[in-house]
Amino acid sequence: MPEPLKKLPIRDDLKDLHPYGAPQLEVDVQLNTNENPYGPSEALQAAVAVAVRNVAGTLNRYPDRDAVELRQDLAAYLGHGLTEANTWAANGSNEVIQQLLQAFGGPGRTALGFEPSYSMHPLIAQVTCTEWIAGRRDEDYGLSAAAEQVQRHHPDVTFITSPNNPTGTSVPLDLIADAYDATTGMLVVDEAYAEFRRDGTPSALTLLPGRERLVVCRTMSKAFAAAGTRLGYLAADPAVPDALLRVRLPYHLSTVTQAVARTALAHTSELLSSVEALRSERDALVTWLRGRGLVAADSDANFVLFGTFEDRHKVWQALLDRSVLIRETGPAGWLRVTVGTPQEMSAFRDALTEVLGQ
Ligand SMILES: Cc1ncc(COP(=O)(O)O)c(C=O)c1O
Repeated sequence: MPEPLKKLPIRDDLKDLHPYGAPQLEVDVQLNTNENPYGPSEALQAAVAVAVRNVAGTLNRYPDRDAVELRQDLAAYLGHGLTEANTWAANGSNEVIQQLLQAFGGPGRTALGFEPSYSMHPLIAQVTCTEWIAGRRDEDYGLSAAAEQVQRHHPDVTFITSPNNPTGTSVPLDLIADAYDATTGMLVVDEAYAEFRRDGTPSALTLLPGRERLVVCRTMSKAFAAAGTRLGYLAADPAVPDALLRVRLPYHLSTVTQAVARTALAHTSELLSSVEALRSERDALVTWLRGRGLVAADSDANFVLFGTFEDRHKVWQALLDRSVLIRETGPAGWLRVTVGTPQEMSAFRDALTEVLGQ
């Protein structure tokens, strides 16, 4: 336990917990947290300023507790016949996941995820006193054995991340439907990277009708280029938002957050206009890495998992020494790089070529 904590009566199970910590370092090329590298246009910046100005006079009042208009906008964006009653929003999808585990997990309950996957799922499980069950993936990171593992463990909450972080791989819908049929608990499909998926990869939104224990989580932090806004959301049967009302803190989404997120949604086509370029850049990166004799996982996201290295930390550090920051995560020997602008990718390729040539 860190020395300063010894002075505090902190919960035993948190004493040795490592806080989430992708490094936030000043570098020329930042490719470690899967953000969209393209900032908002001048016009969108001005629209955000106007939106904040318009609500500034109401900041003495609490925000709309149920974020109704924002949820209407989110439902309209998602389509699939969804309405505001099917959606719920919070400060990042991390908060949505926390609320889901507060409502459906908790003491005496379990959550199952298939590793390697998003490291916050087990961390949020721990913090909400939900026992974490580490399920496994196939050799190629597929999930052919998901339903069987769900059946075996009887989890109260199951997470399927698709496209998965850090592997980039997505899960066919029939496997998700099978996992749903195999559980009496909640099935949460974390689709943080959905907008980047390759053509022909459908979203689990299409599975929602008739499946009241299925939840699809999304975020504006990735394709939507709004990580700083902190806005995550879900789509599900209306009973799910109703359940979350019981655990959410009142007024959890500030008036400013709601106004900025609605402005971003009103500029959906501009914000998503970079997705096509990022997908092409990603596919080119996979080809380039394989051409260098490296292994690169197929990716439906805005990052690529590649390797394998005997000492991945050494490679990560050598890239950082060249002001290129990527992520040391995933299975031993692998590294993850976020897809950036063409200039950033060219800097990454040059740096990696130099490092590998050493
Ligand atoms: C799979 C996955 N889910 C959820 C999140 C959380 O995103 P946010 O809280 O910014 O919405 C991330 C962020 O990296 C992620 O990779």
